[in-house]
Amino acid sequence: MGSPDIAILGTGSYAPEKIVTNDDLSQRVDTSDEWIFSRTGIRERRIAGENETTSMMAAAAARHALASAGVTAADIDLVIVATMTPDLPMPATACFVQHLLGVPLNTACFDLNAACSGFIYALDTAWAMLASGRYKHALVIGAEKMSTVLNWKDRTTCVLFGDGAGAIVLGPARGTAKILGTRLYADGAHTDLLCVPGGGSNVPDPSADPSGPQRHMTMKGREIFKVAVREMEDAAREILAQHGLVAAQIACVIPHQANQRIIDTLAQYLKLPADRFFVNLHRYGNTSAASIPLALDEARRAGRVKAGDTTLLVAFGAGLTYGSALVRW
Ligand code: UT7
Repeated sequence: MGSPDIAILGTGSYAPEKIVTNDDLSQRVDTSDEWIFSRTGIRERRIAGENETTSMMAAAAARHALASAGVTAADIDLVIVATMTPDLPMPATACFVQHLLGVPLNTACFDLNAACSGFIYALDTAWAMLASGRYKHALVIGAEKMSTVLNWKDRTTCVLFGDGAGAIVLGPARGTAKILGTRLYADGAHTDLLCVPGGGSNVPDPSADPSGPQRHMTMKGREIFKVAVREMEDAAREILAQHGLVAAQIACVIPHQANQRIIDTLAQYLKLPADRFFVNLHRYGNTSAASIPLALDEARRAGRVKAGDTTLLVAFGAGLTYGSALVRW
């Protein structure tokens, strides 16, 4: 007997209340709405409250996903939180989410860190676990409090990111909807392009480092831009070829929401019209692992994802990691 078909049964998202505009940021660093919008497409981002944790945002998104799937917390037996900004180094943010939602004890709960590609990695992992027949309903969540790893004095990074969460419920396919495939990649030769240097076992106490605030994200933006476009194109082309599809058959592409210029270049390379891509980065900035599930939920609610459609998800991030997924609705 083959593996059971697994589908996205519901989606949900959450964005913190506080909106920080480009003009607000220009009061803090030497930047402008004109620079940020023309280079990135971002107009504003959401920033979580001081006491609002990654797990709280994850749980809020998950509640919406459960409601949209018509599934209760009691039905869940797997929780994966993709994040690079966990509540604590340990225990896993997924355990906090389990407790907040009242998910049963016989549930596997863990975090996964593939930076901005985290949601695609988590989707692949959950899909494999469900297809094994050993788990039935998974909450797959991307959640980030990026504001806690940003250097708010560094205009080259702080204008790009935001906080938020997105979630899906994966479970046994109803009808013809199903996950068609996923592809994951990594290129560890480029770990230096985007990283948080301190806070791990290499630099356990960043504040003790006299050379600077190593707990903040550092990025070589221009280099990342070039690699990102190539990697996203490869991840998209290879998954399409694997499934005997061409780009024109994709009803909607949900790309990682990092930069409008990256998305536009990808559209050109794939020879797809710009309106085939769902974009909400002008309102949220780059929310890392939350970006694809947050966009997916908004795309579904905006009617951009219809029964029978095939959607392409494609991401890149620190690692460098990248990946893609094909979803039939
Ligand atoms: O999820 C993955 C996360 N990473 C990314 O998505 C990064 C991908 N890269 C990018 O999105 C773009 O490279 C950036 C948006 C980061 C930068 O755009 P760019 O067109 O590559 O600009 P640049 O880095 O070449 O900088 C151009 C100029 C520089 O000034 P000089 O050296 O030409 O005088 C920067 O200092 O713009 C300056 N600059 C700024 N000016 C105003 C950099 N940041 C800002 C800013 N406001 N916020």
